[in-house]
Order: sequence, then structure tokens, then C-alpha cells
Amino acid sequence: MKQKILNMLEARRGEYISGEELAEKFNVSRSAIWKIINSLRKEGHVIQSRTNKGYMLENFSDILTGQGIISHLKYDSMIKRVICFDEIDSTNNYAKSLIMNHDHNNDLHGTLIAANHQTSGRGRLGHSFESPAGTGLYMSIILKPDNIKAANFQFITIADAVSVCLAIEDLCPELSEALRIKWVNDIYLDNKKITGILTEAVTSFESGEIESIVTGIGINVSTKKFAGDYNAGSIFPDGRIKFGRDELCARIADYIMNFAEDLNATQSHLIHEYRKRSLLIDSDITYIKDGETLTAHVLGISSDGGLEIINQLGFKETLRSGEVNTIRRN
Ligand code: BTN
Repeated sequence: MKQKILNMLEARRGEYISGEELAEKFNVSRSAIWKIINSLRKEGHVIQSRTNKGYMLENFSDILTGQGIISHLKYDSMIKRVICFDEIDSTNNYAKSLIMNHDHNNDLHGTLIAANHQTSGRGRLGHSFESPAGTGLYMSIILKPDNIKAANFQFITIADAVSVCLAIEDLCPELSEALRIKWVNDIYLDNKKITGILTEAVTSFESGEIESIVTGIGINVSTKKFAGDYNAGSIFPDGRIKFGRDELCARIADYIMNFAEDLNATQSHLIHEYRKRSLLIDSDITYIKDGETLTAHVLGISSDGGLEIINQLGFKETLRSGEVNTIRRN
């Protein structure tokens, strides 16, 4: 009941809903509603109340909870377990420790770990990922290769990037135009990086084979200031959110699980969605090859997610990994 009331306030964030309407909808007395509102406030939700107007969830109020995430998952969600932390070193680290300490980790497929704050968030290439409390969403999902062929590994990351875009677009269609995926897998909004993705494989010590995949996503939702000097931004840079992190997390997780269920079948659809949002197609970039910085023009994204370029010497090649920098945008 409490979660349902919160979800209704969330759906009409910034708007007053009368105690009467809530009481009628949930078939309880107005004083019961009042008690529930107070209990939500104790949990940290910022809810205004006004005589004759009712209750309103403030448009910066956003508490991440396991219950909240679960309440937004699809009724037939393939997410099997949700673990939510107020603070953790890194959700990817936690996911990996779960895998290591689990004898028969088959049933870890579809485990979602989310956190409100990471003390040692990790990025790609050994970088750290700034993960302040309250304004970002840090999540990892454990996937098992029984369901995912090793050859499809890179598609997990592509599925993540597309899933984040689809979820944001569902919840806030007006952002669609400005959302772009920068190869390999950073998401940009108005030319600022709002999301990073780190997918890691856990290999079995005995067989040397990939045992599980941990795919981690960090999203700056309403962070206003970043300590690092890179080009970071947020979905809602003024702090006035249009949707909560619980809902965003649940939607992303549901999209990822759906794509991951049958990556063979979804590959071409994924690449199509990825290309549509590509930041780099038709741009000039620099990249590093054998220690040398080269410039190139981006021709497209290959069917397996590589970056197709023609370099300054006129040679065409397909980049599979690495960092590229834009020097001229399309
Ligand atoms: C990058 O931009 O280099 C990738 C950043 C990935 C950050 C996410 S936040 C959730 C998960 N836990 C981590 O420690 N890292 C990933």
C-alpha cells in the first residue's frame, strides 16, 4: 500500500493529490493516508501537504529502494532478485563477490544490484567513476553464459547502451533528440557524458571459461557538480527530476534482460537502434594505433558493433575497442 501511494505521487510528481482521492483509490481512511505519508517522510521522501490541496511529492525527492525498484519491474520481469544498497564500494565488485562465493551460481542469472552511492565506483581502462550519493544510479546485473554465447559478449554492452536510451526516452520523450551513444558505450546528452558502462567477465579458475558476466551501468541523473575534469553531465542538470531512479533502474533492467534472453535474435535490431543514436557516424575523430595518434573519418558501425573508419592515410579499418576523441562533429 505504502509503495503504491508513493508510485502514484511519483507518477504525478510536482502536483497535489487530495487526501480524499488517495483514500478513495486505496479504499482506506484519510487518516490512514496521513499516517502513510508521514512514514514515507520518515524514509526521506519530501512530500508537501496543504489544506484543501492534499499531498505533493517534490520534484527533487528521489530515494532509491529495493521495494521501489521491484514495484516498477514488469509483471513478467526476468529480473530474479534485487539487492539495493545505500552505500557500497562498487556494485560490480559486489556482483563479482556474489559469484565467487556462490557454489552453484546458475541462479544468479538476473540478479540486479543497485546503489545510491559508490565509494569506489570503477570505470573502463582502470579509471574511477564518480558516484555521488542521491543523484546518480549505479547498477549491475549478473548474466550467465548458459543463456549467452561467448561470441555475443560485446552485444551485452550494446544492449546496455540501447536499453539506457530506450528507458530514458520512455520516461521523458522530450530528451530523445539529444540522447546519443558514443562508441563504444558512453551515453551523451547535449554533448555531455551522462552514462558509462563497464561489462566484466568472471572466468572459472578450473576451466578458464567465462562463467558469468557482470554488466555495470553508472548514470548521472541529477548531479550538478563533478569533481573530475572530464566532460560529465546529468539527465537533469538543474536537479528537477521528471522520474525517479527506482523506475529508471527497473526499466533499464527489464530492457537488458529482454535483449539478453536471445541475443542471436536481437542482434540486428540492437545494431539498428545503436546506429540510430550514434554520436560518431560522419564525424572526424582521433584514435591511437601502435602508440601513434591518427585522425580518421567515421563511416559507420559494423554489424557486430565495430567502428568503421577511413583514416588520414586513406585506409579503411574497423576499430574493435579503445578510446576515440571527436575533432569535428557531423
Ligand atoms: C566508464 O564510463 O568508464 C564506465 C563506468 C561504469 C560505472 C558503473 S557504476 C555501476 C558499476 N559499478 C562500478 O564500479 N562501475 C559500474
